[in-house]
Amino acid sequence: EDAEPSILVHPSYKVSKINDNIYGGFTEHMGRCIYGGIYDPGNPLSDENGFRKDVIDAFKELNCPVVRYPGGNFVATYHWLDGVGPRDQRPKRPELAWLGLETNEFGTDEFLKWCEVVGTEPYLCLNFGTGTLDEALGWLEYCNSRQNTYYANLRRKNGREEPYNVKYWALGNEMWGPWQVGQMTKEDYAKQAYQWAKAMKLLDPTITLILCGQDGTSSWDSYVTKECIKWDVHGLSGSTTKSLIDMHSIHIYTAAKEHLPNATAPRSAERAIQITSSLIDLARIENKVPHTVPRQTICFDEWNVWDPVRAPGELGAEEKYSLSDALAVAVWLNVFVRQSAHVGMANIAQSVNVISPLMTTPTGLLKQTTWWPLLLFSKYMRGDQIAVNVGCGEYEGPTQPSWIRGTVETPWLDVSACVGEDGGVRIAVANIHHEKDFRTRIGGLEGGKVEVYTVTGNNPLVVNDDVERVGIVEKTIEWDLSNQYYVFPKHSFTLLKWKK
Ligand code: AHR
Repeated sequence: EDAEPSILVHPSYKVSKINDNIYGGFTEHMGRCIYGGIYDPGNPLSDENGFRKDVIDAFKELNCPVVRYPGGNFVATYHWLDGVGPRDQRPKRPELAWLGLETNEFGTDEFLKWCEVVGTEPYLCLNFGTGTLDEALGWLEYCNSRQNTYYANLRRKNGREEPYNVKYWALGNEMWGPWQVGQMTKEDYAKQAYQWAKAMKLLDPTITLILCGQDGTSSWDSYVTKECIKWDVHGLSGSTTKSLIDMHSIHIYTAAKEHLPNATAPRSAERAIQITSSLIDLARIENKVPHTVPRQTICFDEWNVWDPVRAPGELGAEEKYSLSDALAVAVWLNVFVRQSAHVGMANIAQSVNVISPLMTTPTGLLKQTTWWPLLLFSKYMRGDQIAVNVGCGEYEGPTQPSWIRGTVETPWLDVSACVGEDGGVRIAVANIHHEKDFRTRIGGLEGGKVEVYTVTGNNPLVVNDDVERVGIVEKTIEWDLSNQYYVFPKHSFTLLKWKK
């Protein structure tokens, strides 16, 4: 632990292109995420559509590439037709995931319009609980069809001539969960998912279909990938072959009461990604899917720091995030960058008010501690992931979950690196140590100006409430090749950006 840490960067060794979609979001009809979050009609902070302008600005600043909707668990009893057409005729329904009432005031057209205003791609999740294949096909037709057909015409009647071209569609959400309306066995799920995939791709072959996984390491994941990731003989002639399933989704939330293991817990997700990637490879081998098919087939469509027990609010959903949680989020994002060869999309759960870095108040928008690493990653950690070696001591205390110990590393300095479009190197470093600054030798880089962004606070437990205690501190330094050291302060996140 006492040896001087070192980071060796290899700018010319490109590991993989980072998919921008790893900085995706998620908005569910849950708590105050939609109502009072992105949609707040009557509030002076909202526009003529009832969309909160401060929230839109934050999504734009984040350059959020894709947003998942409408759930989550909510979608298991959601009928999209309830949420289109004249507002005063939309039915109110009991909502069974969070035991509330759904007014359907906000639905498909509102969400897709909001995505256009924000400049983000929508990602819709299908109802595998009480929904039918007919409804799913109707929804796809409503969103994407140019034909003179019933649901495409219904869209036109509701004021939208052009199709929305929704590219991403998920085949249900957490259907393995005991809390889920319509919980399924893996056998039943795989069968239904495959049938629905076939029909969806017949109607619109251009969409990307996402299979419902668990945490990537379960027998559910192993079974459904094996059953569904296969070459499909398609079309009347039987001559067209392709894979109907494009991606496999997984969900993990991490949290612990103590700063450590809280900040090391996301490392377990790195292991999960490696295992999921192997399961997908195995399915391809077993089902003779050629190796030329795309990589980046993991869709990590729910991730975050969340402990429903510690979180206040009716649903255990309004987490107050500490600096420790912000460092955990930085480690999460380092995981996605390091695993960029496998991860094609990741969605922080969630984007507003519900376990979120952004919290609306009646008069403004609070940026929680976790907002800052998310913003820095999304702004700067794009382009090509590059190889980086890190030598430093490890945290050796209890881990969360306990099986991490021995299967993944838990270094004090958690690092990822990339080359941006401008050719400049960026290094993201979380120093999770609660009491030690680390003077670190950084090798492999050119001299010149380096922009430095630091996120830290007085101690790992500080939160942003009335006072913003955690934000970004910026400075520019000269990288001097005769003294290639940087001191990473205790409990901090630092992004170093070489200027080109
Ligand atoms: O993001 C909150 C909930 O967590 C989602 O609705 C569900 O999919 C998961 O269990």
